[in-house]
Amino acid sequence: MRELRVAKSAGFCFGVSRSVKMAEEMLAAEANCYSLGELIHNDDVVQHLRSEGLTVADGPEQIPQGASVIIRSHGVSRAEFEAVQRTGATVYDATCPKVKRIHEIVAEASAEGRQPVIIGAADHPEVRAICGWCASPIVVNDAAQLAERIADGTIDCAKPLTVVIQTTQTQEKLLECQKIIKKECTNVKIFDTICNATQVRQTEASQIAAESDFMVVIGDRHSSNTGKLFDICKRQCENTVLIETAAELDLNKVSDAETIGVTAGASTPARIIKEVLDTMSEVKSGETNLEPSFE
Ligand code: F3S
Repeated sequence: MRELRVAKSAGFCFGVSRSVKMAEEMLAAEANCYSLGELIHNDDVVQHLRSEGLTVADGPEQIPQGASVIIRSHGVSRAEFEAVQRTGATVYDATCPKVKRIHEIVAEASAEGRQPVIIGAADHPEVRAICGWCASPIVVNDAAQLAERIADGTIDCAKPLTVVIQTTQTQEKLLECQKIIKKECTNVKIFDTICNATQVRQTEASQIAAESDFMVVIGDRHSSNTGKLFDICKRQCENTVLIETAAELDLNKVSDAETIGVTAGASTPARIIKEVLDTMSEVKSGETNLEPSFE
């Protein structure tokens, strides 16, 4: 019998859900509403909020005096945060509390004269924002780059180090980096700042992918956690695809597969997941066990 398995953890995480709710509350209560950068990495949600009256500003200089401003779930740098406050804006801070905690860790490290080292993607908004809460941060993408930075002296292991990791990175990467750091450096504090919601999602996705012959990951291509889910699933199931909407689904693959797995990134709305599941159900003509748990 053909089977469709949907990850229970698919869809909005706590931080994304909180930020969208805050944006909706702001739009209902205030006029002249801005977000500093796109609120979350999902085009569909951002377009919806724009249609409700939200203007996306690229920087604090685009925010007029006295506006209402929501800070994105990925957070912003201290300089940007203070620049927004200087405009006299009513600030809705939707920075995910788990990201906020990283800001506090690196700020404290800086104040204590420790060298902040951030494991993550240097060009991701979350990592750029973290860098903006401490002095002279060093960002490394993975264990190989970490080893390089130690070897070329960019990271001075004689200095006290504080290490954090982008919330959406994998435990595997953290363990690889930990091994190198513990071998080379003596005075080091390592904080596991990977988000629990991310871990749960990744573990479940990996299990489902391992038991599927076609795996579908739904989410925005700009979303870091969606990209990680895709990589993890691909390792377990060669036949894994990443789609943003139901329209991108290859229906031939759906009808050929015996066991299909589905998961979705933390910024993927339930509505899009449902559209994908409905499309699959139609192709499978009711042959599936379709019990999404997020509705
Ligand atoms: Fe926050 Fe974790 Fe979501 S860091 S935004 S709850 S993936």
